[in-house]
Amino acid sequence: QGVAWLDGHFVPLSEARISVFDHGFTRSDATYDVAHVYRRRVFRLDRHIARFMRSLKSLRFEIPFDSDGLRALLLEAVRQTALDDAWIMMICTRGRPPFGSRDIRLCRNNLIVCVVPFIWLATPAQREAGLTATVSTLVRIPPHSVDPRVKNFHWLDFVRSIFEAQERGSDLAFLCGEDGRVTEGAGFNVFMVKGGEVLTPADGVLEGITRASVLDICADEGVPARVAVFDAAALRAADEIFVTTTSGGIVPVVRLDDRPIGDGRPGPVTRKLNEIYWRRHE
Ligand code: PDD
Repeated sequence: QGVAWLDGHFVPLSEARISVFDHGFTRSDATYDVAHVYRRRVFRLDRHIARFMRSLKSLRFEIPFDSDGLRALLLEAVRQTALDDAWIMMICTRGRPPFGSRDIRLCRNNLIVCVVPFIWLATPAQREAGLTATVSTLVRIPPHSVDPRVKNFHWLDFVRSIFEAQERGSDLAFLCGEDGRVTEGAGFNVFMVKGGEVLTPADGVLEGITRASVLDICADEGVPARVAVFDAAALRAADEIFVTTTSGGIVPVVRLDDRPIGDGRPGPVTRKLNEIYWRRHE
């Protein structure tokens, strides 16, 4: 159903292979980005390409394209599938040094593009009714050498948080930093609404494209919004909570650690922002 591009060729997804010695696999030495192909158009493609290019530069990856060339390749990948609704992934791994060498400068970096059927964070029913969440006991530790704004595959804290959420009967887990500030979760940014103001963690998080879209919508619609530092207690006292991700847009959270948020239903600000967000996809 989907398609992959690697080593200069398009292949069916099932035939896309990389070496088990690739440092992307053995060292998490890789970066990626994911955009939403919505009704065959890629939403905010330029922003995803710009973020990917920044991640590549930060980790000293080299690919044989500039932004325009990459855009052309991504659009061609979409064209090669019949998928209306898809994830388009761009991945770059270090590759592997010649056998016997540890010299990473000798690696040929691997650019991989995949178009796969869209993977939603939540079902339509869940997006309507809202999800449940828990504040994780795990501390969000972004890899020390890697800026959290660089998209990376260091997901072990997130992976543990997913198990923890499941064990507590919650859909999602929110991770806090060592200082107790709320950060983000496994593939999404966090927002809260308090007294009519929209707040999202200022730093220590990936600068989500959906997060930026929400801040843009707030600015355009005159909804007060700012990036801020807040802890789990503030989140528990929020009027509304929602999460944002390319994998589903704005998703309401209606219970946190077994207590309802607001009246336990998606709130008016969340619903308004969500409606405008999807209108902007047209
Ligand atoms: N993840 N925070 C983290 C750690 C993420 O991995 C993601 C996205 C986000 C939301 O960013 P955006 O709005 O740009 O999608 C926040 C992608 C979708 C994933 O790997 O599943």
